[in-house]
Formats: sequence, structure tokens, C-alpha cells
Amino acid sequence: MKPTIIEEVRARKVLDSRGNWTIEVDVETCGYGFGRAAAPSGASTGRHEVVAFPDGGVDKAILEVDEVIAPELEGRDAEEQDVIDAVLKDIDGTDNFSNIGGNTAVAISLANAKAAAHSLNLPLYKFLGGSFSTELPYPLGNVIGGGAHAANATDIQEFLVIPVGAENIAEAVYLNSLVHKKVKEALSRGGANLGKGDEGAWAPNIGDTEALDTLREVCEEVKAETGREVRMGLDVAASELWDPKKKLYRYRREGRDRDTGDQIEYIKELIETYNLFYVEDPLQEEDFEAFFQLTSNVDDCLVCGDDLYVTSVERIERGIREGSTNAVLIKPNQCGTLTDTFNAINLAKKHKLTNVISHRSGETSDESIAHLGVAFCCPIIKTGAVGGERTAKLNELIRISEELTPHRAEMAKLP
Ligand code: PGA
Ligand code: ZN
Repeated sequence: MKPTIIEEVRARKVLDSRGNWTIEVDVETCGYGFGRAAAPSGASTGRHEVVAFPDGGVDKAILEVDEVIAPELEGRDAEEQDVIDAVLKDIDGTDNFSNIGGNTAVAISLANAKAAAHSLNLPLYKFLGGSFSTELPYPLGNVIGGGAHAANATDIQEFLVIPVGAENIAEAVYLNSLVHKKVKEALSRGGANLGKGDEGAWAPNIGDTEALDTLREVCEEVKAETGREVRMGLDVAASELWDPKKKLYRYRREGRDRDTGDQIEYIKELIETYNLFYVEDPLQEEDFEAFFQLTSNVDDCLVCGDDLYVTSVERIERGIREGSTNAVLIKPNQCGTLTDTFNAINLAKKHKLTNVISHRSGETSDESIAHLGVAFCCPIIKTGAVGGERTAKLNELIRISEELTPHRAEMAKLP
């Protein structure tokens, strides 16, 4: 029998980083292959994401795996990822995984790929990417945050850094953690209290401008100390600010409302003032046109769609048609399967959009996205800067780089 034939599929509930239950799946093959994957979860989820769990939550999802999905998958070939993913969609029978849950699907899909890779004695990135997997993504990490991820902090959800001057992955992940440490010192000097948000970013009781100024200062300090350039970015998560009735972006802390035109101008100004490398979801998730207005008016900055696209091929196609962004955020559990994740990445790549593979705010120690980033040649990985569930992915990249070293292990080319 082929070593990749699935012998057993098991599901259990485990805690995520917020202390909520999530689903973890084990897949075993008859060639002693073993794959384990757990699903993350969002707090500022996009409206068009697949449904995370069925009615009845994680317990219902596990029952569904035991009674319906596992018997259907056992005996099939784990190497045929597209077939496995099609079976999951078939069993679900909806277009948004509302029956079995997108988190159930993604945990099975990823555990299946890991089991197939293990059966063939290959690391996941090599099994999925073959000889194309030679470059490492730059880590984009959240160091100050507020919005839906922390109470009484900034209006903007995430203040990010990317170590564009790093020469290798170890240096890159360290530079982000160094910024994180120095931000703590800088905020303490200013007397801000220092809680942390869901992703391990500092969640001080300060405004957006102060956060940006602090971060700029720290990036300059790091440059002076290490000689390496670290650039700044934002995840505005603008759908969380948007009031659809008033048609205004409401910055509650700042005490200011902005209409769509003001919002575009404001973001342009921030990009210029702070030389931003990256801006995610600067506008609300239904406004493809406003995204276009911004993207076509900025130079040298990635404008990325997260809630806008929800890793959906159809929505990315629309964004391409309308010129909405030049980058796409990729979150496997927004679409539910590895095959759909792969299709989204390929579509974006074909149209020269930059792919950013991403964690969720609620995470586990699952390291799959590090492998996906390398396998599918994503030049950037967004996965926080510190904290066990974030460093699980960052440290995995360091391990992968060791395996690549005899050949190349170069950092990806940034746009
Ligand atoms: P989420 O947010 O994982 O809470 O949805 C992260 C993000 O908006 O990028
Ligand atoms: Zn986002």
C-alpha cells in the first residue's frame, strides 16, 4: 500500500493563546506518517470569512470529525491534497463551511499535508514547494497595538515593523524583538502603563500619533545601534472603525470622525510622514474603490487587503480588476483549505501582488504558516514579534533556514 494512505484522523480540543477552545487534528498514514495541526482564530474577523465553527462550537466540530469526516477520509491518499480538500467541501455542502466549520477544515487540511510530507520523509515546505522553496520571508511583527486586540489603547489596531535591512532570518526575527524591547523602555520613560494585547504587542494608553512617534524613534535607535534598517507599518483594521450608518471612520480615542475622503488623505499623510512600508486594511472591507484611490496615489508602500479579501479567490479577483491593492494578506483559516489558500496565493502572485502569509490574533504553537510562507514563496510573514505562539513560527523559520543553508537560504526579494 502507498505510504501516504490515511489510516486514522482524530480531533481534540486544545486551548489557544486567548484561553479559548480550538480544534487540533492528528492524521496518521499507513507509512507511519504523522501530521498534527491546530486552527487559530480571529478577533477582528472579516465579514466574508468562512464560518469558524458550526453551531454547537468546537465540541460539535469534533463530533463531526469522529462520526462523518474521519470515516470518509480514512483509506484515501493524503498526497492528493486537492481531493482531500474537495471531500471536506463536499461533506460540508455550503459555500462558507458553516456545517463543519472552516477551522475544522483547515486543521484537517494542514494535518493531512503534514502527514503526507512526513510519510515521504520531507519537511512540509519542501513537500509543498519542491525546488522553488529556497527563500525566507521577512517577518512583519506587531509591537504596539490596540483596536479590537486591547482595551483603552490606540484606535489603530497594529503598529508593525519589518527589518528590511536584515541579512538573514535569525537577524530579522531578532531585530523585531529588539524593537519590541526598546518600545517598552521608551513607553516606560513616558510613563505609559504597559499591558499587552492579544498578539503580545504593547497596549499602552496612548494615541496613534504618540505610538507612531515612539516607534519611529525606536527604529532610528535600532538603526544607529545595529546598522540595520527597520521600517514601519500599520494594520488599521478600518472595518472596526467604520460606522456604516453614519458612513464615517470613528477614531474614538482621538475623538475624531473621518469620511472616506478624509480617511484616504489621512492614511496618505501617515505613509509620507512615517515612511511607512506597509498599510493593511486602511479602509473598510466593502470599499474596493476607496482602496484603489489610495493605492494609485502612493509610491513605495504596500497597501494590503485582509478583511477586504479574506483569502477568497473571488474577492482577490475583484481587487485585481479594480486595482484596489498591491498586496494580499493570506490567512488559511479565512478560506478553510490548503488548496484554496494555494489558489489565492497563486492568483495574487500571477498579478504581481505581494503575498503576506499571516497568523491570527488567537494562535497556538502550530508552525504551519512558516512552512507555507517558504513553500509558496511569500516574501513576508506576519506573525507577531514575541510570545510562544508567535515565536513558534519565527523559530521554525530559523530551523528551515539551516536546512536551506547548503544551497542558499537567502532572504526573499522585497518589492
Ligand atoms: P484577527 O486580526 O486575527 O483578530 O482577525 C488580525 C488582523 O487583523 O490582521
Ligand atoms: Zn488585519
